[in-house]
Amino acid sequence: MAEPARVGSARSLRALKRILDAKGIRVPQSSDDGAGEENPGDREWHHRARSEYALSRWRSATPPRFRAAEATLPEVTSWADRALSSNADAGALLLSGTTGTGKTHQAFGALRRIAAGGPDRFELIAVNSADMYGALRPSQVMGAAERELRRLSEVQYLLLDDLGTAKASEWTEEITYRLINYRYNACLPTLITSNLPARDPEGPDLTDFLGDRVASRLAEMVTTLVPMIGDDRRRAGRAA
Ligand SMILES: Nc1ncnc2c1ncn2[C@@H]1O[C@H](COP(=O)(O)OP(=O)(O)OP(=O)(O)O)[C@@H](O)[C@H]1O
Ligand SMILES: [Mg+2]
Repeated sequence: MAEPARVGSARSLRALKRILDAKGIRVPQSSDDGAGEENPGDREWHHRARSEYALSRWRSATPPRFRAAEATLPEVTSWADRALSSNADAGALLLSGTTGTGKTHQAFGALRRIAAGGPDRFELIAVNSADMYGALRPSQVMGAAERELRRLSEVQYLLLDDLGTAKASEWTEEITYRLINYRYNACLPTLITSNLPARDPEGPDLTDFLGDRVASRLAEMVTTLVPMIGDDRRRAGRAA
């Protein structure tokens, strides 16, 4: 003789389901089983997991000096929020201004804000532009520079720090053109900091450094331009 099913066992639950199905009664999913997509606890858990993962990527791409960086300027936080909600519409954030005004700090802060927001994916390369040109010089290793350019072009978020400090040449113009043109066409979010003003008819500006073709693409790409003014925070810290 078959053993009677224990109350709550898988067999008794299957039997109960058969009886209810036969009567046309549907039992809603329990709200605390953690399996349903609609379960708010579940959504929150996934959001937290995504943000922890993105923040760990952010930390590994961020130099120790900027690991506590927080975006404080409203233009910068709104750019980050836009990037989080619609990656392809974010365009470029350009922070331009004099030395030590906090451009790099705000840029890393913006990226941290995006990571903390729990994005679906988060890939980041942060590079100083002088180092970038150094790494892209044709090397002995076949194709290494081309591979590096592709990596910088295709990454989801690129922070190009200190653009315009290297000595401009036809070669830097060509490299910057290829990089910016790719990111412009692919609508990839790019963060740029520079000591040069975007435009200055009286003196050197980003257009002089980049050349007209890059500057024209950048003009369309930049959705948020933040002029950074003020004292050099590094010197202020020393005086205090
Ligand atoms: N909002 C802030 N709160 C606290 N510290 C800040 C803030 N902004 C910048 N700093 C600190 O001030 C110093 C200068 O900032 P940062 O390096 O971002 O300036 P910068 O404009 O990028 O300078 P440069 O043009 O020389 O690259 C850094 O030590 C940074 O950590
Ligand atoms: Mg800087």
